[in-house]
Amino acid sequence: MSFRWGIAGTGSIANGFAHALTRLPDTSLVAVASRSPEKAEAFGEKFGIPEEGRYGSYEQLAADGGVDLVYVASPNSHHREHTLLFLNGGQGVLCEKPFALDAGQAAEMVATARERGLFLMEAMWSRFLPAYVRLRELVAGGAVGTVLSVEADLGFPFPDDPAHRMFAPALGGGALLDLGVYPVSLASMLLGEPDRVEASGKLGAAGVDDQTAVLSGYDNGAVAIAKASMRSQLACTGRITGTYGHIELPFLMRCPDELVVRTRGVTERLSLPAARDGDGEETVGGGLHHQVRHVHERLRAGRLESDVIPLDESVSIMRTLDTARAGIGLSFPGR
Ligand SMILES: NC(=O)c1ccc[n+]([C@@H]2O[C@H](COP(=O)([O-])OP(=O)(O)OC[C@H]3O[C@@H](n4cnc5c(N)ncnc54)[C@H](OP(=O)(O)O)[C@@H]3O)[C@@H](O)[C@H]2O)c1
Repeated sequence: MSFRWGIAGTGSIANGFAHALTRLPDTSLVAVASRSPEKAEAFGEKFGIPEEGRYGSYEQLAADGGVDLVYVASPNSHHREHTLLFLNGGQGVLCEKPFALDAGQAAEMVATARERGLFLMEAMWSRFLPAYVRLRELVAGGAVGTVLSVEADLGFPFPDDPAHRMFAPALGGGALLDLGVYPVSLASMLLGEPDRVEASGKLGAAGVDDQTAVLSGYDNGAVAIAKASMRSQLACTGRITGTYGHIELPFLMRCPDELVVRTRGVTERLSLPAARDGDGEETVGGGLHHQVRHVHERLRAGRLESDVIPLDESVSIMRTLDTARAGIGLSFPGR
């Protein structure tokens, strides 16, 4: 069974994703949609998309009955609108992170996918990388005992550019949603939805957060600290601490190439390159293809959502981000 993909958007990550699709044998990239016919044409030319699949509007892609799955690579502000558009067109959707602007939008997307019996997943690609797979195995196997703390940060200095989506409230910009979602999602993966969430952060001149820290508390005593910044070069690492030791996710915590496991005085370094294909050889580039393989496996198994990033968890992550946003006074137009 081969899967026919379309891509909605022609920006930075859409290009990375198109490259990733070329690594999988059971996959064809048959369509792209852009707001501009010229950009669709250029993207189609670059990635060998048939001319009839190069659309100058997102609505045209939604009407293409020859597309099984659409990857939504538009700005955060448009994830809901575009996901609903393609679901209502009868196509499954892999939607970029953050899944939506808030939990209300996310719940609507999930309800629509379930009503229509179509596949939907948040493109939280980190979870499918070899290091994250091993991390879950180690924790489930009790390697560090009971996890009581998750700390992680992700941040880089972005040059001031009011035209960039990161600085635009109307596009759902800011450090928390774009970068903070990774450490918040890591904590969710290991500890579940927090019982209490507090946040501290600063809104910049553009009206979105420059830097935010989220502190989550759990009734069993566990804590999680997630930091995100678009003003400073953070360490971009993660640390999972349990009753017997801890596991470090080195730079970059969203796509690490190794894990460092320290338990009972013993330190072990596990090499797990993000671009490695299972036990096989390393591929060139980032590793975005692992999530696509998972989508295909789930569909072949007759499943309409992921068991690694379940839809209810994507909604719950948005609830955590909603509380953090309220804590720092971050709002987007109408949300
Ligand atoms: N997984 C990852 O590692 C990763 C990395 C970066 C970003 N992301 C996520 O992916 C999404 C896209 O990020 P990006 O860095 O690729 O952004 P980008 O380079 O700005 O591209 C976004 C694309 O969305 C399309 N779009 C549709 N409606 C738009 C609108 N109203 N305003 C602006 N663009 C619009 C545009 O394509 P057309 O002009 O062709 O319509 C644009 O090229 C974001 O949600 C981001 O959080 C994920």
